[in-house]
Amino acid sequence: MRLAGKSALVTGAGSGFGAAIAKRFAGEGARVAVNDLDAAKAEAVAAAIRAAGGDATAAPGNSAQVESVAAMIAVCVAAYGRMDLLVLNAGVAQRPAPIETVDEATFDRIFDANVRSVFLGAKYAQPQFKAQGGGAIVVTASTIATRPRPGLGVYAASKSAVISLTKALAVELAAIKVRVNAVCPSAGETPMLKEFMGGDITPEMHKLFTSRVPLGRLCEPADVADAALFLASDEARFITGIAMDVDGGRSV
Ligand SMILES: NC(=O)c1ccc[n+]([C@@H]2O[C@H](COP(=O)([O-])OP(=O)(O)OC[C@H]3O[C@@H](n4cnc5c(N)ncnc54)[C@H](O)[C@@H]3O)[C@@H](O)[C@H]2O)c1
Repeated sequence: MRLAGKSALVTGAGSGFGAAIAKRFAGEGARVAVNDLDAAKAEAVAAAIRAAGGDATAAPGNSAQVESVAAMIAVCVAAYGRMDLLVLNAGVAQRPAPIETVDEATFDRIFDANVRSVFLGAKYAQPQFKAQGGGAIVVTASTIATRPRPGLGVYAASKSAVISLTKALAVELAAIKVRVNAVCPSAGETPMLKEFMGGDITPEMHKLFTSRVPLGRLCEPADVADAALFLASDEARFITGIAMDVDGGRSV
């Protein structure tokens, strides 16, 4: 058990990559607080973990809102006495669109969910990390940060900000034994993918996307969960400030 004795809070864990991360962590012995904006989805993932013999509790709330962030950390600490691992995974997509058609509300929605949530999570975790003598943060960024695509500028910029914040926090928090790393998935098989494609994904589109990936398929939730597990575990004890591509070679 690679996370035995640890407890974790995973944001946006009601679906996709976050759900896979929560389940993988629990399978490795972590006790998991499952956050999502959608309380029913958070509870369903927590229930699935418990049904599989793990320990999980739902911690619903908006990861971009101060009171909710404080509350979800409090749920984790109240349930498990600690919060060793914080996975800041919640995020939203952008529908591809020319920049002149992107309204300010879209910019704010994406930066709130993707960047403000990482800032708040990292900030409000500090008292707990200090009290217990360390911890680890894993952030879900994206390969788009370094390979921006047309029509997705706001989303790409949000993930660049997240990587920059990850690296800044890594050097700042090393002194209190908190490691901070990011995983950067490429286009992944989650409900979010449809949004990036601007609607339903035809078999032809799917084929085109997979053909561009050297390892010949899209990113799967299990790929991201395994990478996050490694970065969260003590196996990564000397690794901080990296942005790890989980992309089948797509970014090379
Ligand atoms: N799917 C992809 O192609 C892809 C690629 C690279 C990176 N990512 C990133 O991976 C992360 C997870 O995305 P996914 O693909 O699993 O998508 P998803 O839509 O399947 O899951 C995202 C979850 O986050 C939740 N969420 C959104 N905003 C929230 C908030 N403010 N507070 C709490 N929960 C919130 C949603 O309710 C949803 O359950 C995101 O940060 C996304 O940007 C996705």
